[in-house]
Amino acid sequence: MIVCTRRVRDGDSEDQRGMSSSNLTQATLREAFGYFPSGVIAIAAEVDGTRVGLAASTFVPVSLEPPLVLFCVRNTSTTWPSLRTAARLGISVLGESHDAAVRTLATRTGDRFAGLETVSSDNGAVFVEGTSVWLESTIDQLVLAGDHTIVILRVTDITMHPDVAPIVFHRSIFRRLDA
Ligand SMILES: Cc1cc2nc3c(=O)[nH]c(=O)nc-3n(C[C@H](O)[C@H](O)[C@H](O)COP(=O)(O)O)c2cc1C
Repeated sequence: MIVCTRRVRDGDSEDQRGMSSSNLTQATLREAFGYFPSGVIAIAAEVDGTRVGLAASTFVPVSLEPPLVLFCVRNTSTTWPSLRTAARLGISVLGESHDAAVRTLATRTGDRFAGLETVSSDNGAVFVEGTSVWLESTIDQLVLAGDHTIVILRVTDITMHPDVAPIVFHRSIFRRLDA
């Protein structure tokens, strides 16, 4: 585990920062990235009549004009090649009661929508019932970024349910805002 208690100043050498190439591994990066709390979305659509989707914590609102958001998908994802063919993608911002749903939506085997109530738009975007915000979207740009692809999406429709509090993903734990 990396423990860095030193203050980092401009001009500090790499050693003085307590970070070296030897401890910059995928495992430590994953752990370090986990300190940044995020929400979790479901991104889903109907493809050839079947619901396809996954859970993602890399969602970021980007632009108001034009209306853009993004999420990052692993280049090795076996779901994305199918999901990206959909005319519209549904983004659902998951609520504090969705900790089990996140695991289901992320499962590598079995039904990703087991136990989940979903709503499909006329355009084939799939949304999870009981979530706070639904954003219908189309793919605007794909930007290769290391082992992930940044998927920039243009929002085409919005539905909001303000009473639903969000789930917060932090250091591999699902938390609530008041916890
Ligand atoms: C909390 C959480 C956040 C996740 N965030 C992402 C993400 O941002 N991008 C991504 O590609 N996969 C993410 N995943 C993994 C996917 O939900 C899913 O497990 C993965 O896509 C399954 O592999 P497949 O795409 O080959 O079917 C996340 C999983 C969990 C549990």
